[in-house]
Amino acid sequence: MMYRAFAALSFASVVLGQQVGTVTAEKHPSLPIEVCTKAGSCKKESTEVTLDSNWRWTHATSGYTNCYTGSAWNATACPDGKTCAANCALDGAEYAKTYGITTPSTGALKLNFVTKNDNGANVGSRVYLMASATKYRMFNLLNKEFTLDVDVSKLPCGLNGAVYFSEMDEDGGLSKYKTNKAGAKYGTGYCDAQCPSDIKFINGEANVEGWGGADGNSGSGKYGTCCPEMDIWEANLDATAYTPHPCKVSSQTRCEGADCGNGDDRYNGLCDKDGCDFNSFRMGNKDFYGTSKTVDTSKPFTVVTQFHTVDGTDNGALKSIRRFYVQGGKVIPNSVSQIEGIDEANALSDDFCKQQKTAFGDNNHFAQLGGMAAMGNALKKMVLVLSVWDDYAVSMNWLDSNFPTDADTSKPGVGRGRCDPEAGVPKTVEAAHPDASVIYSNIKLGAINSTFKAS
Ligand SMILES: *[C@@H]1O[C@H](CO)[C@@H](O)[C@H](O)[C@H]1NC(C)=O
Ligand SMILES: *[C@@H]1O[C@H](CO)[C@@H](O)[C@H](O)[C@H]1NC(C)=O
Repeated sequence: MMYRAFAALSFASVVLGQQVGTVTAEKHPSLPIEVCTKAGSCKKESTEVTLDSNWRWTHATSGYTNCYTGSAWNATACPDGKTCAANCALDGAEYAKTYGITTPSTGALKLNFVTKNDNGANVGSRVYLMASATKYRMFNLLNKEFTLDVDVSKLPCGLNGAVYFSEMDEDGGLSKYKTNKAGAKYGTGYCDAQCPSDIKFINGEANVEGWGGADGNSGSGKYGTCCPEMDIWEANLDATAYTPHPCKVSSQTRCEGADCGNGDDRYNGLCDKDGCDFNSFRMGNKDFYGTSKTVDTSKPFTVVTQFHTVDGTDNGALKSIRRFYVQGGKVIPNSVSQIEGIDEANALSDDFCKQQKTAFGDNNHFAQLGGMAAMGNALKKMVLVLSVWDDYAVSMNWLDSNFPTDADTSKPGVGRGRCDPEAGVPKTVEAAHPDASVIYSNIKLGAINSTFKAS
């Protein structure tokens, strides 16, 4: 996520806390995956998903009063972060009715963009894969590949159906932070490489201090929450990118001040916010991805992402991140870069990133924070995130349009997709495409080349 700042959490009266509420029983939708050792040899694993705590109704532990309304904390219940965490409870989620999160078939997850509900409307969502009712499913991706099917045919410009890994704690911070009584079961402990500060509870405390800057849907506080992030899939009908984001820190870390890397501190923070992205359109292949293109986004397809190590073992340093698509029984290798000054590569590596940053005139914060090797260390214990979101910071222009917005569009690296820069303005896209949705299915983890084949 290169520029994600505020997730849209739109509730007429959202309320949050870190005790456990009992108004609605928490029942996780089931989303089984497969683990493969070699081609044709895969085993089913029972897994489920939980909704991130930020989206949940949170209320006074005794009763129904909101701890947070609109975009403000209740000053009585939440005079400070610790008191607030003690006074407020996170409740169970009605996945389909309130959030538009469903499992249309076994192994498939559908996320609706806008869901009208009793409280007004919910916009977007973020869920985590769980190994059990209380623990996230931990992934070690080194020398492995991660594969899933995506259907972005109902996901227009300005939206982002995102599947990625964040280095979160297995129990959501439950054991580390005694004031967090909810834990992974209620989707706590989120972090990513943008060090988001719109997270309401961090390290078992409410992010009350300095809370403000609301854009009508959300707000942000003094603290952010950082950790390495591997973006497998950030995409809509017209654009896609995959992007590693290393950090100076490993595992979930609360930040404040310059460490969060906001504004002018972008390259002084704990994490590489830009990352090193492979976006086929940006790399000069404008007819590779989209409706009726080489990868035809009007129909479902398979996305394979491989994490190759220097010595081909599970313990080697990460060397390259490779992409294949499978559609209509055909394996489609990733597009090859057409940009002058960059080798004709179709995978991410330290060399590719260095050449790309030079060719596009971008700061190579990726290398400064340890590049592929640093990302590889983080890949040993990752949590899988599945989401859909719109972009209150820069209208998703960094993914599917021109970015920076004021740059000369003929300059290499500025054009990222064919979308109109105005299409992703949240008000516009929420009004024009409330019925947008994305489907993720057939999630597989396995040895290199074990999870897919041509037919
Ligand atoms: C704020 O919380 C207090 C104590 O829980 C409660 O009495 C009050 O009604 C709440 N205010 C709002 C506006 O919800
Ligand atoms: C894996 O599969 C790809 C695509 O079919 C192929 O190009 C590559 O050579 C295979 N690698 C190995 C190690 O078999």
